[in-house]
Amino acid sequence: MNLLERFGIKNRVAIVTGGGRGIGKGIASIFAEAGAKVLISDKMAETVQATAQELCDQGGNVLATVTDVRDSGQVAEMVKTAIEAFGRIDVLVNNAAGNFKTSFLDLSENGWDAVVRATLKSVFLCSSAAAKIMVGQKSGNIINVSSMDAFRGSISTAAYGASKAGVVSLTKTLALELAPYHIRVNGIAPGHIDTPGTSQWRLPEVVEQLRGSIPLGRLGQPEDIATVALFLASDASSYMTGETILVDGGVLLSRP
Ligand SMILES: NC(=O)c1ccc[n+]([C@@H]2O[C@H](COP(=O)([O-])OP(=O)(O)OC[C@H]3O[C@@H](n4cnc5c(N)ncnc54)[C@H](O)[C@@H]3O)[C@@H](O)[C@H]2O)c1
Repeated sequence: MNLLERFGIKNRVAIVTGGGRGIGKGIASIFAEAGAKVLISDKMAETVQATAQELCDQGGNVLATVTDVRDSGQVAEMVKTAIEAFGRIDVLVNNAAGNFKTSFLDLSENGWDAVVRATLKSVFLCSSAAAKIMVGQKSGNIINVSSMDAFRGSISTAAYGASKAGVVSLTKTLALELAPYHIRVNGIAPGHIDTPGTSQWRLPEVVEQLRGSIPLGRLGQPEDIATVALFLASDASSYMTGETILVDGGVLLSRP
């Protein structure tokens, strides 16, 4: 394998959760461009189907499935769909998550449970279902999308930050337990990324304020995360497992 081939994922089979838009779409898109067979899953039916169609029109080998990653039955169906369509699962990207902002003092038990279920338990459910296939294959690769909020306090996101820190911890433990089966598990912790989910940042004054807090001077784009996901999915990272890579334009460097 030559040097550039080590950065490739041609013909590998990947599932990307929450792949209908935003960072997940960026990852699905770069994987498809790199020649992978991609199953995009998302709870929003129209969005995921439109995204799969768009990537197929660009020459990708991409399928869509409607899956809510909070539901173990739907997750089992997602894995079954990947196997029926492509015969194996080489890469699982746990990207889907859920959050809403409220102060800690106003955060209800139901609110806490909802965020932990969407952001942390979903990673357990998808990883568990896919890992059972990967163990049989004796190979696999799981990539968990965490957040820089895993590594800092952030106002009004107590359940989200704790869940994303949980994802970092889960990444390490899964990496240890799955290493004997040649399954690598790594994570990416994005900073401020411009996606439909963060569209409130499009207000010029908010963008300006955020830019001021980012040493590299701009919001990230989904592609900035997708290129790191491609590296983690490829053999170029074959000696890495249990690591979560911070991709935040230097935000955490600048904290006092
Ligand atoms: N955008 C950022 O600044 C940022 C920063 C740090 C971490 N992240 C993380 O990156 C990931 C993607 O974020 P984004 O900004 O692209 O979000 P987004 O809202 O733009 O897109 C998320 C996608 O996930 C889907 N989704 C949400 N809950 C789901 C569920 N239960 N089942 C299936 N699909 C579901 C949505 O339908 C949507 O298509 C999330 O894990 C998020 O926490 C984002």
